[in-house]
Amino acid sequence: MNSTKVKLAGICSYAPEKVLTNEDLEEIVDTSDEWIRARTGMKERRISDKDTPSSELAYGAISKLFDQVDIKKKEIDLIIVATVTPDNPFPSTAAILQHKLGLNTIPAFDISAGCTGFIYAISIAKQFIENGNSNNAIVVGVEELTKITNWDDRSTCVLFGDGAGAALLTKAKGGEISEIIDTYISADGKYGDLLIQKAGGSKMPASHKTVDENLHTVYMEGNKIFKSAVKAMGHAAVKILKDNGLTGEDVDWLIPHQANMRIIASTAKRAKIKPNKVITNIEKFGNTSSASIPLAFAEAVEEGQIKRGDVIVLDAFGAGLTWGSVLLRY
Ligand code: UT7
Repeated sequence: MNSTKVKLAGICSYAPEKVLTNEDLEEIVDTSDEWIRARTGMKERRISDKDTPSSELAYGAISKLFDQVDIKKKEIDLIIVATVTPDNPFPSTAAILQHKLGLNTIPAFDISAGCTGFIYAISIAKQFIENGNSNNAIVVGVEELTKITNWDDRSTCVLFGDGAGAALLTKAKGGEISEIIDTYISADGKYGDLLIQKAGGSKMPASHKTVDENLHTVYMEGNKIFKSAVKAMGHAAVKILKDNGLTGEDVDWLIPHQANMRIIASTAKRAKIKPNKVITNIEKFGNTSSASIPLAFAEAVEEGQIKRGDVIVLDAFGAGLTWGSVLLRY
């Protein structure tokens, strides 16, 4: 059995300054602040400007991370970026960041796991460190969903926002309380068409027609996704606790993917975690896909809500379909 313990040494976030409120959306589509708040819990979200790519938001989060952790840039030996809105289809946003950070030749790659991306990336980085292939890994969740939003579709355009979060994973020294205890990831491609960007890949390359028909934007069958999310996120939280001999009572904080306040409430209820132990910032950032968990996590650390030693469950669901959870002691 591998005796190397991995910890989350630090976490930071970054979001564009520009705010898009529910009232702003009332000017764009037939919606209302009341509907959005009641059905999702969202009040506003951040929106990046046209010339700012995802890598710049990620760079902002990583720069803050270096101020927080006791590690030098040149000691980083792995970058994993979770995103569905990379700067380009290729090269990877991780490679772009590696260059921006001046980190020569260290491995860098993106992963695509929808809103579960940050959890997938933590799971991968943990294993790199356990296997002795990395000592200090940066894991990023970054998204500019407003760049692939269909502003004619009121059922999706009110949901999404932009942001980034970055975490440093390192070996935990003997006697340290901080540890990533377990990770769980899963997927079911059968339902992939329910949440999809239809065009721009090899199946439907970009053409005038795909642009005219808005096929480069997020397509989501919200109601079906809602039902799957409730089930999968509940399952992911309950499973990781049960696998480790814990219950919801043992958890200090649940940090769920911020897709919908009703999904979050249902997940907490299924996992028997009290509402006052659930970290949310959906009202300020909307759904930022793979960035939502690190955005909420970093903010709660910054505000002193989360402290070293707290037992935390991260829990997400997204396109793929994918879902998963992380159990950690911060
Ligand atoms: O992040 C990855 C995973 N994503 C998710 O987990 C999102 C999951 N889905 C959801 O959060 C919800 O399904 C939505 C928030 C997207 C929609 O909420 P809903 O309660 O499922 O609404 P609905 O789609 O069943 O629509 C109910 C009504 C419809 O009108 P009728 O047919 O009842 O007259 C919609 O046309 O609400 C209408 N509607 C809106 N009304 C005002 C849909 N969007 C809007 C809107 N403003 N923006």
